[in-house]
Amino acid sequence: TADQFNTGSLVGKTVCITAGPTREPIDPVRFLSNHSSGKMGYALAQACIEAGATVKLISGPVNISPVDRAEVIAVETAEEMLSAAMEHALGVDLFIAAAAVSDYRVAQRAPQKLKKVDSDDLQLVLVQNPDILASVAKHPQRPQCVVGFAAETNDVVRYAKDKLARKQLDWIVANDVSRTDSGFNHDDNAVTLISATSEQSISLAAKNQIAAQLVTILAASL
Ligand code: CTP
Ligand code: CA
Repeated sequence: TADQFNTGSLVGKTVCITAGPTREPIDPVRFLSNHSSGKMGYALAQACIEAGATVKLISGPVNISPVDRAEVIAVETAEEMLSAAMEHALGVDLFIAAAAVSDYRVAQRAPQKLKKVDSDDLQLVLVQNPDILASVAKHPQRPQCVVGFAAETNDVVRYAKDKLARKQLDWIVANDVSRTDSGFNHDDNAVTLISATSEQSISLAAKNQIAAQLVTILAASL
């Protein structure tokens, strides 16, 4: 493997990646979540390992076998993901936020299973979750390179550039989740990698091939 011969593009580098969905409990048996499979984040972790990096993978609940030689930190909620990121991401060479973090959590999780009520409707009060990526990017011990993802259904590049600036990122990987052939919960992806001064598209390919191409470009920028 690459690191045995010290030839990989990330030899001697530390990488931290978030992956998968988060789960926000409503009561002991129910939660809010999304369709993220975790495949893109796991493929990136694998590509970074193959490039010789030391990798920590902060993972929400997924159905993927663990990445050989990556340290996996398993979390469920966005708040747990934030504290894991504060513990493991600060000061690394490369931080990649590939997780699909739930934007909201239930304000008061019920300690016991909720029972049906007499009315037809039930209202849940939601509160906004912390932004893990922005918290890492704006931290005094910011990683050298911070990369986000932007899954959009419309105005993909414009929204992605907006997030690049607002979250103070070095790069953002934009993908069009309105496409039926790629993205969320899919084996393939097609993305545009955007920095303040560049924009390059990576055409439809298996997520592990997309990951390898992204890692090549990101490693060259370190
Ligand atoms: N992200 C994060 N923590 C959050 C929300 C998002 O770390 N609470 C990260 C994601 O991992 C991704 C990037 O921010 O790398 C963009 O996520 P996205 O959902 O597209 O952006 P939001 O800021 O949540 O904006 P919106 O969902 O309204 O488009
Ligand atoms: Ca979001």
